[in-house]
Amino acid sequence: MPIGARNAVALFRAAWIHRQMHTVIAIDGPAASGKSSVARMLAKKIGFLYVNSGAMYRAVTWLVTNRGISATDAGRVLGLLDVTKFECGTANNQSTILIDGVDPEPHLTDAAVNANVSAIASIPEVRRILVDRQRQFAETNDLVMEGRDIGSVVFPDTPYKFYVDASPEVRAARRAKQGLADTIAERDKVDTTRRTSPLVIAEDAHVIESSYLTIDGVVGEIIGRLKLKGLALPEGV
Ligand code: DC
Repeated sequence: MPIGARNAVALFRAAWIHRQMHTVIAIDGPAASGKSSVARMLAKKIGFLYVNSGAMYRAVTWLVTNRGISATDAGRVLGLLDVTKFECGTANNQSTILIDGVDPEPHLTDAAVNANVSAIASIPEVRRILVDRQRQFAETNDLVMEGRDIGSVVFPDTPYKFYVDASPEVRAARRAKQGLADTIAERDKVDTTRRTSPLVIAEDAHVIESSYLTIDGVVGEIIGRLKLKGLALPEGV
């Protein structure tokens, strides 16, 4: 390779690494483990962007079910994504999504979305597209991102990985309390057994059993751990 080209590659690599320099706190865990509330509160306390990666899979699921397409028909799902504008942004320190200019937020916990989101999240090409978008957030923001594969696949190099768990009974009770119809057990099964990026506990993740902890308690444990690891946090946190 000519020197000029080699320099260009080195420069590109340096720029890419620089773009990846923002701090990422990865919070993974099963459905209704409390990770969303925890991630949101943590992000607010330390002034990081909060990104709910599950909302991205839910948004695609809403689009697909809304168009009457089967979530297991990968060909048609990808065909639809090809002709759909999917915009990821930020507002009020949170990630936002627009699908062809429409905010799907009010529909993200619809029963049809709950029932089909694991099938959509099992399509490797859908994951590739969304993981790409998830990584882009870290190019411009320090962030707390929650999901299933954030520590294991999306940001495997971050030293700040947490896995928030709770017993199946506690998780089912939490969903019931929210008044949401959710097929937690079925989603758990699909999410942990799918071939692409299943829900796993990253080897270097700190596991928090949250069944009998408050949200504050879990956030406190995470902050304590971040401090131990030497992450500089805002004064007073
Ligand atoms: O966190 P949640 O329950 O809103 O996520 C909805 C679904 O999206 C979940 O059943 C699996 C999928 N998901 C995923 O596969 N990977 C992620 N990083 C986040 C969510």
